[in-house]
Amino acid sequence: MDRIRIVGGNKLNGTISISGAKNAALPLMIAALLTEETLILDNVPRLADVAQLQRILGNHGVDIMSAGKRSGDREYQGQTLHISAADIIDTTAPYELVSRMRASFWVIAPLIARMHEARVSLPGGCAIGTRPVDLLIMALEKLGADISIDGGYVVAKAPGGLRGADIAFPKVTVSGTHVALMAATLAKGTSVITNAACEPEVTDVADCLNKMGGRITGAGTPCIIVEGVDRLHGARHTVLPDRIEAGTYAMAVAMTGGEVQLSGARPELLQSALDVLCEAGATVSVNNDGIRIGRNGAGLRPVKVATAPFPGFPTDLQAQLMALMTCADGASVITETIFENRFMHVQELARFGARISLDGETATIRGIDRLRGAPVMATDLRASVSLVIAGLAAEGETMVNRVYHLDRGFERLEEKLSACGASIERIRD
Ligand code: UD1
Repeated sequence: MDRIRIVGGNKLNGTISISGAKNAALPLMIAALLTEETLILDNVPRLADVAQLQRILGNHGVDIMSAGKRSGDREYQGQTLHISAADIIDTTAPYELVSRMRASFWVIAPLIARMHEARVSLPGGCAIGTRPVDLLIMALEKLGADISIDGGYVVAKAPGGLRGADIAFPKVTVSGTHVALMAATLAKGTSVITNAACEPEVTDVADCLNKMGGRITGAGTPCIIVEGVDRLHGARHTVLPDRIEAGTYAMAVAMTGGEVQLSGARPELLQSALDVLCEAGATVSVNNDGIRIGRNGAGLRPVKVATAPFPGFPTDLQAQLMALMTCADGASVITETIFENRFMHVQELARFGARISLDGETATIRGIDRLRGAPVMATDLRASVSLVIAGLAAEGETMVNRVYHLDRGFERLEEKLSACGASIERIRD
């Protein structure tokens, strides 16, 4: 398995192009199952998770054509996928495929909505907390699906099709909102989704569904109204920029010092993280091309942050912020409210000499002057990248093992960072 070797201590200076958002690209690709016409998606990031979902969709009979390079393409331009689910030949999503990526479970929504049946293995994915699917099942049941569990598979049936319903989520769930939204677009009648996730990726999917002929209002607010339609048609949609990738590089720059232009980043998608970075002593300015982030000379100030659903501080930046705070001038407190057990990076950060203590869902980080490079490994995507951030600032060499998780969510990470002066290379085994 590939490893990443970093020699820390270099400041980051230059420009980093922000890729399309993984967390929007995946549900958008899944939404293509809702129509027999072609959905064209631009700015799809080249990630292991996207490739894996292509395999899963292929198994259902979906044809995916990836467009070649065009003149005038930017260096890191995402790919254009033409996704055609003209004939769905199989409504089963098998364990071997679904167990490798949790979001692939969401195919259950378009399959039940369009084909009136689905058999989808219970999911796998990042090892963060228990991550159940009870609320996804609740949403589908409200829409009239008959659900049973059989041999590790969720079996959903709705012989007469889905019916519009009121779906009130007891807690904010991105996956639940995606599933409810996709399923409700082809249900008979109106659905009202309350306590819906307001994440920008949900809004992006709703925008695309509307381009496909869906009738959705309120996406981006806690109350989404979906008027079901008989069928959806093809459309063309550009995946929005990845706010987590942008926030990750912003944390990296705050950690090493220097100044980097995050080209294509949209500040309104990560305002809470930018506010925290300013509080910590980084300088943030917004321009036509994106966001400029820097830290010159000044030390890092400690912060107190709790993760929260959008527009709060994202759980997907919690590990990166923790890496940053290991070198702050004082004690920081980070509380994780979305996922239990999302602290696997703590013991790995300790290998750099970081001083972090855990009490339930709260971590206290006592900043030290300098981290020291170390061999490390992580088993979750965002945790892995927090180790890269630590390695960029640490004295000496860091070897990040098992980079498989990084490849799931960060497009050409080592290229983007080394172009800004980092000493980082991939070692292929
Ligand atoms: C998505 C993102 C992930 C991000 C998370 C929260 C994708 C591909 N992944 O994950 O990167 O960290 O949102 O912003 O978009 N829950 C239940 N029952 C359910 C579903 C969820 O209890 O049926 C709980 C979860 O365990 C968790 C909370 O709800 O505690 C939020 O989960 P959810 O928002 O659904 O996360 P994902 O959609 O899996």
